[in-house]
Amino acid sequence: MPLVAVTRVIPEAGLTLLRTEAEVRLWEEELPPSPVQLAALLRGCDGALTLLTDAITGEVLDREPRLRVVSNFAVGHDNVDVPAATARGVVVCNTPGVLTETTADFAWALLMAAARRVVEGADYVRAGKWRTWGPMLLRGRDLTGATLGIVGFGRIGREVAKRARGFEMTVLAYDEHEDEPAARELGATYVPLDDLLRQADFVTLHVALTPETEQLIGARELELMKPEAILVNAARGPVVDTDALVAALRDGTIGGAALDVTDPEPLSADHPLLALPNALVVPHMASATVATRDRMAVLAAENLLAALRGERPAGIVNPEVLADKPTEPGNDR
Ligand code: DGY
Repeated sequence: MPLVAVTRVIPEAGLTLLRTEAEVRLWEEELPPSPVQLAALLRGCDGALTLLTDAITGEVLDREPRLRVVSNFAVGHDNVDVPAATARGVVVCNTPGVLTETTADFAWALLMAAARRVVEGADYVRAGKWRTWGPMLLRGRDLTGATLGIVGFGRIGREVAKRARGFEMTVLAYDEHEDEPAARELGATYVPLDDLLRQADFVTLHVALTPETEQLIGARELELMKPEAILVNAARGPVVDTDALVAALRDGTIGGAALDVTDPEPLSADHPLLALPNALVVPHMASATVATRDRMAVLAAENLLAALRGERPAGIVNPEVLADKPTEPGNDR
């Protein structure tokens, strides 16, 4: 049987599937393996089921010439040096599709919680400050009829747009690769990023992290936003310049931010973002439902086993590694 490393405990459905065709070497600690521990874990393995917390670089791959597949338990794969893997003939896989709705739901949870100050309200009650109903107490922002700007109009961005219909929102979209029919069907209008930032009451980010999207939202972009606008990030932390965001939240350049992801991750308890009442930060949990994490585990395992069998995995990121299979451009989130 081939030997595969699994870099953290994942739902049992995925582990059981892997064990039908492979010997599993499992990292059982709560925290991810350090680079040295990762190297030891991968030693002699034919495949690896990795997490977004594992940096899979060319050097890591060079140490493991037997490794044929890296199957990431995430739709994002910015933790894997895909060109380096491709150059070494290593298949890279991700888990698109199975977390789309769950992640879109959570972007909405963040957006609504920030707009209506839900967490601030709960903290207020817990702190024993609730003395009466107050006309001026914890006033938030209306969603109905507002303008939503979706940056990254791939799978997840489109699901977010679908949910905006119930709130009768004007939906603006920005994506490098425009799909007009899809936007029209969802009632969204493509606009340049600057226009989206100027017009939206809520801006939600759904781009993959690439060299082009790193720090896509910096001081200049935040300055373009409305002073009451709320920024939601359920994509990747480095898409936003954290220092610029802290400054913008502090001086009222924008109204608030709701972040599932941050740069760095995790944030230390004394990070300036956490001292700001208009910043809502949660620990990268947008895909965290029982059913979705089961689906991710099964798909990541299926991808890995398919590649080991020499078949084309459903979630392959670099099909060019398999002869004559072109890569399709686009936002795979
Ligand atoms: C992903 O899949 O990329 C998320 O960030 C974790 O589910």
